[in-house]
Amino acid sequence: MKKTILTGDRPTGSLHIGHYLGSLKQRVALQDEYHCYIEIADVQALTDNFNNPKKVRDNVREVAKDYLAVGLDPNKVTIFVQSMIPEIAELTVYYSNLVTIARLYRNPTVKGEIEQKKHLFGEDGSSLTYGFLGYPVSQAADITAFNADLIPVGEDQLPMIEQTREIVRRFNNIYGETLTEPEALVGKVGRLKGLDGNNKMGKSLGNAIFLSDSEEIVNQKIANAITDPDKIKKDDPANPDVCMVYYYHKIFSEDNLPTICEECKKGLRGCVACKKELAKNLNDFLEPIRNKRKYYDENPEEVDKILQEGTNKAREKAIETMARVRESMQIDYDFTKRP
Ligand code: TRP
Repeated sequence: MKKTILTGDRPTGSLHIGHYLGSLKQRVALQDEYHCYIEIADVQALTDNFNNPKKVRDNVREVAKDYLAVGLDPNKVTIFVQSMIPEIAELTVYYSNLVTIARLYRNPTVKGEIEQKKHLFGEDGSSLTYGFLGYPVSQAADITAFNADLIPVGEDQLPMIEQTREIVRRFNNIYGETLTEPEALVGKVGRLKGLDGNNKMGKSLGNAIFLSDSEEIVNQKIANAITDPDKIKKDDPANPDVCMVYYYHKIFSEDNLPTICEECKKGLRGCVACKKELAKNLNDFLEPIRNKRKYYDENPEEVDKILQEGTNKAREKAIETMARVRESMQIDYDFTKRP
C-alpha cells in the first residue's frame, strides 16, 4: 500500500532556492511513490502574523504557484489551505489536553523562535501568545488529520515531529489505537546559507534568491554576494572557503568546480567573472521554473481551481479522521438516534 506524506509551508513570503534544495526537490521526487498532501499553513503563519493578515492571504497563491512552478503535479499531490479544513482546528482543541505547557516551552524550535521574535513577544517573552506557544499542537493536527506516515522536513522541524509522536502515543494510550505515529524524513541537504553568509537563507532576512526572481535580480544579487574580504585586487589569490559565491558554485557549478577552486586560489579568476558564471548557472537552473510560473501567473483561475479541488479532497480525508477521533473520545453524539 502507498504510504502518505504530508508537508507544508507557512505562506509568509515566496519560496527560495533554500526551500527548493531542502524540501521541494524531495517532494517532487516522491510524488509518484506516495500519497502526498501539501499544506499551505496559513493558520500557523497567523500565529506570528496575526497583526498582518494581508501578508498571509497574499502569499497563499504565491506559495501555490511556487509549488506548481517547481513541478509538483496537481494530479499527483493534494495541495490545500489549512484554514479551509476546520477539522484541523477541531483536532487542535482535543490534542491541547494532551500537552503540558512546560513541554511546549521546552520545544527547542519554539524556544528559538520566541527568542527571535522579541519585537512581537517582548524582551522577556511576557507578550507570548497562547497560539504561538501552542502551534506544535496545531502542527500535530495537520499531520494526523491525514494519517501521514512520513514527514519530509528540515532538521529544524524535528522537534515538531517528536512532539506530534508524543501526542499520538498519548492519544492512542488513553482513547485507544486511532492515530498514525508519523516519522520524519530528513533531507540530506542541510540548511542553505544566505547570500550574506548568514547561516540561514530566510524569506525575511533579505539574503535569499527566490524561485520567482528575474534574471536581472539574480545577476544583481550575486553581484552583491560576499566574497573573500582579503581579496582586494582582481588577481589576488583568495580563499574560496570564505566566499559565498564559491559556496553556491559548489551546488550550481559542479562540473567546473575543481577549475573554479584552483583558479580562485591561484588568483587566476576575478570575482566579477566568477560571479557572472554563477549567475548564469543559477539562471539556467531557474529558467524552467520561471517559465512554469509564468504560465500560472497568466492563468490564475487554474491556480484557484487546483487549490479548491485539493482542499476539497483533503477535507474528505480530515472528516474521516475526525469521525474516528470523535468515536474514540466518546463524543460522537447523535441525538436523532436512541441508543
Ligand atoms: N512548521 C513548518 C515550517 O515552518 C510548516 C508546517 C506546518 C509543516 N504544518 C506542517 C511542516 C506539517 C510539516 C508538516 O516550515
